[in-house]
Amino acid sequence: MPSFRVETPQHCYSVVVERGVIGHAAQYIPAHAGKLFVVSTEDVWRHQGQALDRGLAGVAYEVLHLPGGEEHKRLAPVEHLAEEMVRRGGDRSSLVVAFGGGIVSDMAGFLAAIFMRGIPVLQVPTTLLAQVDASLGGKTGVNLVTGKNLIGSFHQPLAVLIDPAALATLPEREYRAGLHEIVKAGIIREPDLFRFLADRSGEVLARQPQAVDRIIADAVRMKCEVVSADEREGDLRRILNFGHTFGHALETETAYQRLVHGEAVAFGMRAATWLGEKAGYCPSPEAARIHELIRVYGPLPPLDGISADRLLALLVHDKKTVQGKVHFVLPVKVGEVAVVSEVDPALVRQAIVFALS
Ligand SMILES: NC(=O)c1ccc[n+]([C@@H]2O[C@H](COP(=O)([O-])OP(=O)(O)OC[C@H]3O[C@@H](n4cnc5c(N)ncnc54)[C@H](O)[C@@H]3O)[C@@H](O)[C@H]2O)c1
Ligand SMILES: [Zn+2]
Repeated sequence: MPSFRVETPQHCYSVVVERGVIGHAAQYIPAHAGKLFVVSTEDVWRHQGQALDRGLAGVAYEVLHLPGGEEHKRLAPVEHLAEEMVRRGGDRSSLVVAFGGGIVSDMAGFLAAIFMRGIPVLQVPTTLLAQVDASLGGKTGVNLVTGKNLIGSFHQPLAVLIDPAALATLPEREYRAGLHEIVKAGIIREPDLFRFLADRSGEVLARQPQAVDRIIADAVRMKCEVVSADEREGDLRRILNFGHTFGHALETETAYQRLVHGEAVAFGMRAATWLGEKAGYCPSPEAARIHELIRVYGPLPPLDGISADRLLALLVHDKKTVQGKVHFVLPVKVGEVAVVSEVDPALVRQAIVFALS
Protein backbone atom coordinates (compact mmCIF):
# COMPACT_ATOMS: atom_id res chain seq x y z
CA MET A 1 0.00 0.00 0.00
CA PRO A 2 1.15 3.51 -0.71
CA SER A 3 2.93 5.97 1.47
CA PHE A 4 3.01 9.64 0.53
CA ARG A 5 5.11 12.55 1.72
CA VAL A 6 4.05 16.01 2.68
CA GLU A 7 7.00 18.33 2.25
CA THR A 8 6.54 21.90 3.42
CA PRO A 9 9.42 24.32 4.07
CA GLN A 10 9.29 23.57 7.82
CA HIS A 11 8.10 19.97 7.96
CA CYS A 12 8.30 16.68 6.10
CA TYR A 13 6.21 13.74 7.14
CA SER A 14 4.78 10.48 5.88
CA VAL A 15 1.16 9.71 5.20
CA VAL A 16 0.70 5.96 5.21
CA VAL A 17 -2.41 4.46 3.61
CA GLU A 18 -2.48 0.81 4.61
CA ARG A 19 -5.10 -1.67 5.77
CA GLY A 20 -4.12 -2.66 9.30
CA VAL A 21 -1.63 0.18 9.88
CA ILE A 22 -3.35 1.02 13.19
CA GLY A 23 -2.04 -2.36 14.39
CA HIS A 24 1.52 -1.03 13.87
CA ALA A 25 0.99 2.37 15.47
CA ALA A 26 3.79 1.84 18.01
CA GLN A 27 6.34 1.95 15.18
CA TYR A 28 5.47 5.59 14.61
CA ILE A 29 6.00 6.74 18.19
CA PRO A 30 9.48 8.28 18.50
CA ALA A 31 11.71 6.43 20.96
CA HIS A 32 12.42 9.63 22.98
CA ALA A 33 8.76 10.63 23.30
CA GLY A 34 7.45 11.40 26.79
CA LYS A 35 3.95 10.75 28.03
CA LEU A 36 1.58 9.62 25.33
CA PHE A 37 -2.02 10.92 25.28
CA VAL A 38 -4.52 9.31 22.94
CA VAL A 39 -7.26 11.88 22.36
CA SER A 40 -10.50 10.40 21.08
CA THR A 41 -14.25 10.36 21.73
CA GLU A 42 -16.08 7.69 23.71
CA ASP A 43 -17.88 6.67 20.54
CA VAL A 44 -14.72 6.15 18.47
CA TRP A 45 -12.93 4.48 21.35
CA ARG A 46 -15.80 2.01 21.75
CA HIS A 47 -15.71 1.09 18.05
CA GLN A 48 -12.00 1.19 17.26
CA GLY A 49 -10.13 1.47 20.57
CA GLN A 50 -9.21 -2.20 20.65
CA ALA A 51 -7.40 -1.93 17.33
CA LEU A 52 -5.29 1.00 18.52
CA ASP A 53 -4.68 -0.65 21.86
CA ARG A 54 -3.20 -3.65 20.04
CA GLY A 55 -1.17 -1.31 17.85
CA LEU A 56 0.28 0.41 20.91
CA ALA A 57 1.16 -2.84 22.70
CA GLY A 58 4.24 -2.24 24.83
CA VAL A 59 3.78 1.55 24.83
CA ALA A 60 2.32 3.28 27.89
CA TYR A 61 -0.49 5.68 27.04
CA GLU A 62 -3.52 7.38 28.54
CA VAL A 63 -6.84 7.99 26.82
CA LEU A 64 -8.55 11.38 27.05
CA HIS A 65 -12.03 11.92 25.67
CA LEU A 66 -13.40 14.91 23.84
CA PRO A 67 -17.15 15.33 23.54
CA GLY A 68 -18.24 14.48 19.97
CA GLY A 69 -20.34 16.71 17.73
CA GLU A 70 -19.67 19.91 15.83
CA GLU A 71 -21.48 21.95 18.52
CA HIS A 72 -18.77 20.89 20.97
CA LYS A 73 -15.88 21.76 18.68
CA ARG A 74 -15.07 24.73 20.87
CA LEU A 75 -12.19 26.12 22.85
CA ALA A 76 -13.49 25.04 26.30
CA PRO A 77 -13.02 21.26 25.86
CA VAL A 78 -9.49 21.88 24.51
CA GLU A 79 -8.62 23.88 27.61
CA HIS A 80 -10.16 21.18 29.78
CA LEU A 81 -7.98 18.47 28.19
CA ALA A 82 -4.88 20.63 28.51
CA GLU A 83 -5.53 20.94 32.26
CA GLU A 84 -6.05 17.19 32.41
CA MET A 85 -2.75 16.56 30.62
CA VAL A 86 -0.86 18.73 33.09
CA ARG A 87 -2.58 16.95 35.99
CA ARG A 88 -1.50 13.62 34.58
CA GLY A 89 2.12 14.65 34.21
CA GLY A 90 2.18 15.87 30.65
CA ASP A 91 5.06 18.16 29.68
CA ARG A 92 6.90 19.46 26.63
CA SER A 93 8.06 15.96 25.72
CA SER A 94 4.48 14.63 25.59
CA LEU A 95 2.86 13.46 22.40
CA VAL A 96 -0.78 13.47 21.29
CA VAL A 97 -2.35 10.77 19.15
CA ALA A 98 -5.48 12.21 17.51
CA PHE A 99 -7.73 9.20 17.08
CA GLY A 100 -11.12 9.90 15.58
CA GLY A 101 -13.05 11.78 12.91
CA GLY A 102 -12.33 15.27 11.61
CA ILE A 103 -13.55 16.89 14.79
CA VAL A 104 -10.91 15.01 16.78
CA SER A 105 -8.25 15.70 14.09
CA ASP A 106 -8.96 19.42 14.37
CA MET A 107 -9.36 19.64 18.16
CA ALA A 108 -6.60 17.25 19.22
CA GLY A 109 -4.34 18.78 16.57
CA PHE A 110 -5.07 22.23 18.02
CA LEU A 111 -4.52 20.99 21.56
CA ALA A 112 -1.10 19.71 20.48
CA ALA A 113 -0.39 22.98 18.67
CA ILE A 114 -0.88 25.08 21.81
CA PHE A 115 -0.01 22.73 24.68
CA MET A 116 3.21 24.15 26.19
CA ARG A 117 3.57 26.12 22.93
CA GLY A 118 3.40 22.99 20.81
CA ILE A 119 4.00 19.26 21.09
CA PRO A 120 3.91 16.68 18.29
CA VAL A 121 0.70 15.02 17.14
CA LEU A 122 0.28 11.71 15.36
CA GLN A 123 -2.91 11.78 13.31
CA VAL A 124 -4.85 8.50 13.14
CA PRO A 125 -8.12 9.38 11.40
CA THR A 126 -11.09 7.02 11.66
CA THR A 127 -13.71 8.58 9.38
CA LEU A 128 -13.40 8.63 5.62
CA LEU A 129 -13.62 12.41 5.68
CA ALA A 130 -10.80 12.73 8.17
CA GLN A 131 -8.70 10.20 6.25
CA VAL A 132 -8.86 12.07 2.95
CA ASP A 133 -9.08 15.59 4.25
CA ALA A 134 -9.16 16.77 7.87
CA SER A 135 -6.10 14.88 9.14
CA LEU A 136 -3.90 16.09 6.28
CA GLY A 137 -2.31 19.44 5.80
CA GLY A 138 -1.83 20.69 9.32
CA LYS A 139 -4.89 22.89 9.73
CA THR A 140 -6.24 22.61 13.26
CA GLY A 141 -8.78 24.59 15.23
CA VAL A 142 -12.18 25.06 16.78
CA ASN A 143 -15.37 26.99 16.07
CA LEU A 144 -16.60 30.29 17.48
CA VAL A 145 -20.30 31.02 17.88
CA THR A 146 -19.86 33.45 15.00
CA GLY A 147 -18.40 30.90 12.61
CA LYS A 148 -16.57 27.72 11.85
CA ASN A 149 -12.86 27.16 12.50
CA LEU A 150 -12.33 30.81 13.41
CA ILE A 151 -9.67 29.97 16.00
CA GLY A 152 -6.85 27.74 14.93
CA SER A 153 -3.29 27.13 14.01
CA PHE A 154 -1.20 25.36 11.42
CA HIS A 155 0.35 22.38 13.12
CA GLN A 156 1.75 19.69 10.86
CA PRO A 157 1.60 16.16 12.30
CA LEU A 158 4.47 13.80 12.98
CA ALA A 159 2.85 11.34 10.57
CA VAL A 160 -0.63 10.36 9.43
CA LEU A 161 -1.74 6.73 9.65
CA ILE A 162 -4.71 5.96 7.43
CA ASP A 163 -6.27 2.54 7.95
CA PRO A 164 -9.22 1.87 5.61
CA ALA A 165 -10.16 -1.09 7.83
CA ALA A 166 -11.22 1.40 10.53
CA LEU A 167 -14.12 2.41 8.29
CA ALA A 168 -15.86 -0.96 8.82
CA THR A 169 -17.84 0.46 11.77
CA LEU A 170 -18.52 3.87 10.23
CA PRO A 171 -22.25 4.69 9.85
CA GLU A 172 -23.50 4.92 6.25
CA ARG A 173 -24.23 8.64 6.41
CA GLU A 174 -20.67 9.39 7.61
CA TYR A 175 -19.21 7.15 4.91
CA ARG A 176 -21.11 9.04 2.22
CA ALA A 177 -20.04 12.35 3.73
CA GLY A 178 -16.43 11.29 3.15
CA LEU A 179 -17.25 10.24 -0.38
CA HIS A 180 -18.40 13.80 -1.11
CA GLU A 181 -14.90 15.05 -0.25
CA ILE A 182 -13.43 12.39 -2.55
CA VAL A 183 -15.80 13.53 -5.31
CA LYS A 184 -14.39 17.02 -4.66
CA ALA A 185 -10.86 15.69 -5.15
CA GLY A 186 -11.91 14.23 -8.51
CA ILE A 187 -13.53 17.45 -9.67
CA ILE A 188 -10.72 19.82 -8.71
CA ARG A 189 -7.65 17.88 -9.82
CA GLU A 190 -8.10 14.15 -10.49
CA PRO A 191 -10.00 13.31 -13.68
CA ASP A 192 -9.04 9.60 -13.45
CA LEU A 193 -10.44 9.42 -9.92
CA PHE A 194 -13.60 11.17 -11.13
CA ARG A 195 -14.02 8.54 -13.88
CA PHE A 196 -13.43 5.69 -11.44
CA LEU A 197 -16.04 7.14 -9.06
CA ALA A 198 -18.50 7.42 -11.91
CA ASP A 199 -17.83 3.95 -13.40
CA ARG A 200 -17.51 1.97 -10.17
CA SER A 201 -20.03 3.65 -7.89
CA GLY A 202 -21.61 0.26 -7.00
CA GLU A 203 -18.34 -1.09 -5.59
CA VAL A 204 -17.51 2.17 -3.85
CA LEU A 205 -20.92 2.44 -2.18
CA ALA A 206 -20.73 -1.24 -1.14
CA ARG A 207 -17.33 -0.47 0.48
CA GLN A 208 -15.58 -3.11 -1.64
CA PRO A 209 -12.04 -2.94 -0.16
CA GLN A 210 -10.09 -2.59 -3.40
CA ALA A 211 -12.28 0.26 -4.59
CA VAL A 212 -12.21 1.98 -1.20
CA ASP A 213 -8.43 1.70 -0.89
CA ARG A 214 -7.94 3.07 -4.38
CA ILE A 215 -10.11 6.16 -3.96
CA ILE A 216 -8.60 6.94 -0.55
CA ALA A 217 -5.08 6.68 -1.94
CA ASP A 218 -5.91 8.96 -4.89
CA ALA A 219 -7.56 11.61 -2.72
CA VAL A 220 -4.75 11.47 -0.16
CA ARG A 221 -2.04 11.76 -2.83
CA MET A 222 -3.83 14.78 -4.30
CA LYS A 223 -4.09 16.54 -0.95
CA CYS A 224 -0.45 15.78 -0.10
CA GLU A 225 0.66 17.25 -3.43
CA VAL A 226 -1.38 20.40 -2.99
CA VAL A 227 -0.32 20.97 0.62
CA SER A 228 3.33 20.33 -0.25
CA ALA A 229 3.21 22.89 -3.03
CA ASP A 230 1.29 25.43 -0.95
CA GLU A 231 1.10 25.01 2.80
CA ARG A 232 -0.79 28.17 3.63
CA GLU A 233 -3.73 28.92 1.42
CA GLY A 234 -2.15 30.53 -1.58
CA ASP A 235 -3.94 30.06 -4.88
CA LEU A 236 -3.21 26.35 -5.21
CA ARG A 237 -4.42 25.37 -1.74
CA ARG A 238 -7.52 27.46 -2.33
CA ILE A 239 -8.77 24.89 -4.83
CA LEU A 240 -9.39 22.57 -1.87
CA ASN A 241 -12.12 24.99 -0.79
CA PHE A 242 -14.27 23.96 -3.73
CA GLY A 243 -17.81 23.69 -2.35
CA HIS A 244 -16.70 24.95 1.06
CA THR A 245 -17.53 28.66 0.94
CA PHE A 246 -21.20 27.95 0.50
CA GLY A 247 -20.91 24.74 2.56
CA HIS A 248 -19.58 26.60 5.60
CA ALA A 249 -22.35 29.19 5.34
CA LEU A 250 -24.87 26.36 5.30
CA GLU A 251 -23.31 24.72 8.34
CA THR A 252 -23.38 28.02 10.24
CA GLU A 253 -26.96 28.76 9.22
CA THR A 254 -28.15 25.31 10.36
CA ALA A 255 -26.10 25.61 13.59
CA TYR A 256 -24.17 22.42 12.66
CA GLN A 257 -27.30 20.41 13.49
CA ARG A 258 -28.92 19.40 10.26
CA LEU A 259 -26.01 18.45 8.02
CA VAL A 260 -22.74 16.63 8.39
CA HIS A 261 -19.77 18.48 6.91
CA GLY A 262 -19.54 16.37 3.74
CA GLU A 263 -23.22 16.96 2.97
CA ALA A 264 -22.77 20.71 3.33
CA VAL A 265 -19.84 20.45 0.92
CA ALA A 266 -21.97 18.49 -1.56
CA PHE A 267 -24.56 21.30 -1.55
CA GLY A 268 -21.72 23.77 -1.94
CA MET A 269 -20.36 21.87 -4.94
CA ARG A 270 -23.80 22.00 -6.54
CA ALA A 271 -23.91 25.77 -6.05
CA ALA A 272 -20.36 26.25 -7.35
CA THR A 273 -20.97 24.07 -10.39
CA TRP A 274 -24.15 25.95 -11.27
CA LEU A 275 -22.27 29.23 -10.83
CA GLY A 276 -19.31 27.99 -12.89
CA GLU A 277 -21.62 27.13 -15.76
CA LYS A 278 -23.74 30.29 -15.65
CA ALA A 279 -20.77 32.61 -15.18
CA GLY A 280 -19.25 31.12 -18.33
CA TYR A 281 -16.33 29.17 -16.88
CA CYS A 282 -17.60 25.62 -17.33
CA PRO A 283 -19.22 24.15 -20.46
CA SER A 284 -22.70 22.68 -19.82
CA PRO A 285 -21.79 19.03 -20.59
CA GLU A 286 -18.95 19.13 -18.03
CA ALA A 287 -21.23 20.75 -15.45
CA ALA A 288 -23.80 18.02 -16.12
CA ARG A 289 -21.18 15.29 -15.47
CA ILE A 290 -20.30 16.93 -12.16
CA HIS A 291 -23.92 17.31 -11.07
CA GLU A 292 -24.55 13.67 -11.94
CA LEU A 293 -21.62 12.41 -9.84
CA ILE A 294 -22.74 14.49 -6.85
CA ARG A 295 -26.22 13.00 -7.28
CA VAL A 296 -24.92 9.40 -7.44
CA TYR A 297 -23.18 9.80 -4.09
CA GLY A 298 -26.24 11.43 -2.47
CA PRO A 299 -28.89 11.38 -1.15
CA LEU A 300 -28.71 14.73 0.59
CA PRO A 301 -31.11 15.78 3.35
CA PRO A 302 -33.87 18.29 2.46
CA LEU A 303 -33.05 21.94 3.06
CA ASP A 304 -36.50 23.44 3.44
CA GLY A 305 -36.89 26.63 5.41
CA ILE A 306 -33.40 27.98 4.72
CA SER A 307 -33.19 31.55 3.43
CA ALA A 308 -31.01 32.25 0.40
CA ASP A 309 -30.49 35.84 1.54
CA ARG A 310 -29.17 34.81 4.93
CA LEU A 311 -26.75 32.39 3.28
CA LEU A 312 -25.58 35.12 0.94
CA ALA A 313 -24.90 37.38 3.94
CA LEU A 314 -22.97 34.58 5.66
CA LEU A 315 -20.84 33.98 2.55
CA VAL A 316 -19.48 37.49 2.81
CA HIS A 317 -18.38 36.78 6.39
CA ASP A 318 -16.55 33.57 5.53
CA LYS A 319 -13.03 33.73 6.90
CA LYS A 320 -11.68 33.02 3.43
CA THR A 321 -12.98 36.43 2.49
CA VAL A 322 -9.96 38.65 1.94
CA GLN A 323 -10.59 42.40 2.23
CA GLY A 324 -14.26 42.00 1.46
CA LYS A 325 -13.74 39.82 -1.60
CA VAL A 326 -15.26 36.37 -1.64
CA HIS A 327 -13.13 33.93 -3.59
CA PHE A 328 -15.17 31.36 -5.44
CA VAL A 329 -13.64 28.13 -6.64
CA LEU A 330 -15.50 27.29 -9.82
CA PRO A 331 -15.16 24.27 -12.11
CA VAL A 332 -13.69 24.78 -15.55
CA LYS A 333 -14.01 21.11 -16.51
CA VAL A 334 -13.69 17.79 -14.69
CA GLY A 335 -10.22 17.89 -13.07
CA GLU A 336 -9.78 21.65 -13.27
CA VAL A 337 -11.10 24.61 -11.28
CA ALA A 338 -10.47 28.36 -11.29
CA VAL A 339 -10.32 30.73 -8.32
CA VAL A 340 -12.50 33.72 -9.16
CA SER A 341 -13.19 36.82 -7.09
CA GLU A 342 -15.38 38.93 -9.36
CA VAL A 343 -18.76 37.25 -9.58
CA ASP A 344 -22.07 39.04 -10.03
CA PRO A 345 -23.83 38.84 -6.61
CA ALA A 346 -27.19 38.31 -8.33
CA LEU A 347 -25.78 35.19 -9.97
CA VAL A 348 -24.37 34.00 -6.63
CA ARG A 349 -27.82 34.36 -5.10
CA GLN A 350 -29.34 32.34 -7.94
CA ALA A 351 -26.71 29.63 -7.44
CA ILE A 352 -27.73 29.42 -3.79
CA VAL A 353 -31.39 29.17 -4.73
CA PHE A 354 -30.48 26.37 -7.17
CA ALA A 355 -28.50 24.42 -4.56
CA LEU A 356 -31.31 24.75 -2.04
CA SER A 357 -33.94 23.55 -4.52
N1 LIG B 1 -8.54 20.62 9.12
C1 LIG B 1 -8.99 20.38 7.92
O1 LIG B 1 -8.29 20.56 6.94
C2 LIG B 1 -10.39 19.86 7.76
C3 LIG B 1 -10.81 19.41 6.52
C4 LIG B 1 -12.09 18.88 6.41
C5 LIG B 1 -12.93 18.82 7.52
N2 LIG B 1 -12.49 19.28 8.71
C6 LIG B 1 -13.36 19.22 9.88
O2 LIG B 1 -13.73 17.87 10.13
C7 LIG B 1 -14.95 17.87 10.87
C8 LIG B 1 -15.85 16.79 10.36
O3 LIG B 1 -15.22 15.55 10.48
P1 LIG B 1 -16.03 14.17 10.36
O4 LIG B 1 -16.95 14.26 9.23
O5 LIG B 1 -15.02 13.10 10.37
O6 LIG B 1 -16.98 14.18 11.65
P2 LIG B 1 -16.80 13.60 13.14
O7 LIG B 1 -15.44 13.78 13.61
O8 LIG B 1 -17.92 14.19 13.91
O9 LIG B 1 -17.10 12.05 12.97
C9 LIG B 1 -18.37 11.65 12.52
C10 LIG B 1 -19.02 10.60 13.44
O10 LIG B 1 -18.43 9.33 13.20
C11 LIG B 1 -18.07 8.70 14.43
N3 LIG B 1 -16.93 7.84 14.10
C12 LIG B 1 -15.68 8.22 13.79
N4 LIG B 1 -14.95 7.18 13.40
C13 LIG B 1 -15.74 6.09 13.49
C14 LIG B 1 -15.56 4.71 13.20
N5 LIG B 1 -14.42 4.26 12.69
N6 LIG B 1 -16.59 3.88 13.43
C15 LIG B 1 -17.77 4.34 13.91
N7 LIG B 1 -18.02 5.63 14.16
C16 LIG B 1 -17.01 6.50 13.95
C17 LIG B 1 -17.80 9.85 15.35
O11 LIG B 1 -17.96 9.48 16.68
C18 LIG B 1 -18.87 10.86 14.92
O12 LIG B 1 -20.09 10.57 15.55
C19 LIG B 1 -15.52 19.25 10.74
O13 LIG B 1 -15.42 19.91 11.97
C20 LIG B 1 -14.64 19.93 9.71
O14 LIG B 1 -14.51 21.31 9.92
C21 LIG B 1 -11.24 19.80 8.85
ZN1 LIG C 1 -14.16 19.71 3.88
